[in-house]
Amino acid sequence: MLAAYRKLFSLLLLVGYAWAIPGLGNGSPFGDFEVKEALSQPPAGWKTVSEAPADHLISLRIGLPQPNFEALEQHLFEVSNPDHERYGQHLSKEQVEELVKPSSASLDAVNEWLEAHGFAEVELDRSPAKDWVSIKVPVKVAEKMLGTKYNIWKHDESGDTLVRTTSYSLPKSLHAHIDVIQPTTMFSRFNPLATTLHLPDAPLRAAITYKAPSRASDARLASIDPACSASITVNCLKQLYNTVGYVPKAPKKNSIGVTGYLEQFANENDLKAFYAEQVPEAVNSTFKFISVNGGENSQDPFSAGFEANLDVQFAFGLTYPTPGTFWSTGGRPPFKPDLIVTENTNEPYAEWVDFVLKQKDVPYVISTSYGEPEQSVPEAYARRVCNSFAQLGARGISILFSSGDGGVGDGWDDPTQTKCKTNDGRNVTRFMPTFPATCPYVTAVGGTTDIPEISVYFSGGGFSDYWPRPAYQARHVSDWFKTIPKVLYKDLYNPAGRGFPDVAAQGTRFRVFWRGEGFGIGGTSASAPAFAGIVALLNDARLGRGKRPLGFLNPVLYQKGYAGLNDITGGHMNPGCGTTGFNSTEGWDPITGLGTPDFVKLKAILT
Ligand SMILES: *[C@@H]1O[C@H](CO)[C@@H](O)[C@H](O)[C@H]1NC(C)=O
Ligand SMILES: *[C@@H]1O[C@H](CO)[C@@H](O)[C@H](O)[C@H]1NC(C)=O
Ligand SMILES: *[C@@H]1O[C@H](CO)[C@@H](O)[C@H](O)[C@H]1NC(C)=O
Repeated sequence: MLAAYRKLFSLLLLVGYAWAIPGLGNGSPFGDFEVKEALSQPPAGWKTVSEAPADHLISLRIGLPQPNFEALEQHLFEVSNPDHERYGQHLSKEQVEELVKPSSASLDAVNEWLEAHGFAEVELDRSPAKDWVSIKVPVKVAEKMLGTKYNIWKHDESGDTLVRTTSYSLPKSLHAHIDVIQPTTMFSRFNPLATTLHLPDAPLRAAITYKAPSRASDARLASIDPACSASITVNCLKQLYNTVGYVPKAPKKNSIGVTGYLEQFANENDLKAFYAEQVPEAVNSTFKFISVNGGENSQDPFSAGFEANLDVQFAFGLTYPTPGTFWSTGGRPPFKPDLIVTENTNEPYAEWVDFVLKQKDVPYVISTSYGEPEQSVPEAYARRVCNSFAQLGARGISILFSSGDGGVGDGWDDPTQTKCKTNDGRNVTRFMPTFPATCPYVTAVGGTTDIPEISVYFSGGGFSDYWPRPAYQARHVSDWFKTIPKVLYKDLYNPAGRGFPDVAAQGTRFRVFWRGEGFGIGGTSASAPAFAGIVALLNDARLGRGKRPLGFLNPVLYQKGYAGLNDITGGHMNPGCGTTGFNSTEGWDPITGLGTPDFVKLKAILT
């Protein structure tokens, strides 16, 4: 009833507008177009195939400015700073929404524009803070609204197709009221980071610069099961990261979540087989499945994802009986021009984070093993997504991302270095930092190998081209700069940028179950859920004492927590883009961050 009434009301309003703005021509406030965002060149590897079909539906997502975001950031840093009196006093969902809501001037301007194009309020999908509004529109309408032309684009290597444009415009009067509109210029290809390392030893040996002392030099390491050198199980991680004997005390209050994208879901029978072998007490347990935007969960054993299985098995296996949640986020079906209703948003971060921000109860630690070169995500959009992670952090949720599997670029397996070219029109070689790991409001997890641990060659690391160095890591990162040659890799990276990763964990030889069988797999994909599992156990210890969970981790890690991390001081460099990459050194470094967890020490410092 209400909806019908509102629709009628909006239609009446529209009739009014039709009088005022005949045809949205140049005389109207919405006729005076100016370019809002333009790529300087089509992104590498993508070619146009044809014009986009006029009736193909796309879901336009419009981001309105958040004029109080700085205040939100201030709250985030205060409640995450262990020396601040507000430490742990996380904000509620409603408080966060109040801090990111757009101004009423922006809301009014965008509403008028949408109404002038014939959209009624009931057709709009708004985020709770009203900072995002989405509408489903045929391409021909989007083209009119954005003064652009959409094409079908095809990716050479993968064959993926997308409906995109290389630039879009907005009426001049709207520029101050809209941050970003997608899908327009975003060609990113969100990649899962689990790599099957069938031949790990060749590149492992090739890049090594440092041999760790033998494990006999450390009594605790000497006691670790020797089999862990060949194959990493849940028990190996418990031994290595010092959680043996810790029994979770607050599973009723605690929680951990894992995200899955690209039609990946975790297979329950594989999890059962994994538990039977590695965590027998958990064999009858399962996890909560949540589908976001049509994310799949067919449980067909042959379509389960390698990445999803890895993440779920280790994150939940390490933390059992802490309840686990797995989100499967849809939104990247293959584009078929003949099916005009196919949605083809390919914006998984925003889909997922919007969904989660709408929930009252969100798991306290969330691990994501996906990422892509920062430059492939348009900056305005990357900022909005990163700001969404800050919103979760302010609510007391720890967000972890894998740091990437391409070293400093996408380079160790790319001798031609075509993946290390900038797409800013200059086409010059540059390191390719991984987004979202470079977002300063998330904790980026790099990789190690072997016992004792050394850095591993593929561990993504370096410096953001989008975000400046946040204050929380300034001292550690400037200490690292003192250890490197004065002019290192000039013009290949931004030395003033946010350094990543923040921390590290094992990233090779994880024994995962897939299609009923055990496999060895690696990647910083494995490192992120491993580190997240330790964070969940630390949260358990805090919740058991009536304290709040750790929330956004970086301030506390750089301020105090580093003393509870194993500093990784050598191993492989992380080569890429025609260079040997960075060394791991004493203290923070752009390959293993501050190091890997020692649960007993961290528990003493952080709980
Ligand atoms: C799992 O369930 C089976 C069947 O009910 C039962 O026999 C077994 O003891 C259970 N295992 C555990 C570890 O709870
Ligand atoms: C960039 O330069 C490389 C050679 O260095 C070339 O192969 C590639 O096609 C160029 N790309 C563009 C978009 O100009
Ligand atoms: C890495 O460490 C080696 C050995 O200490 C040193 O010779 C080299 O200059 C370092 N390279 C970089 C890029 O820091």
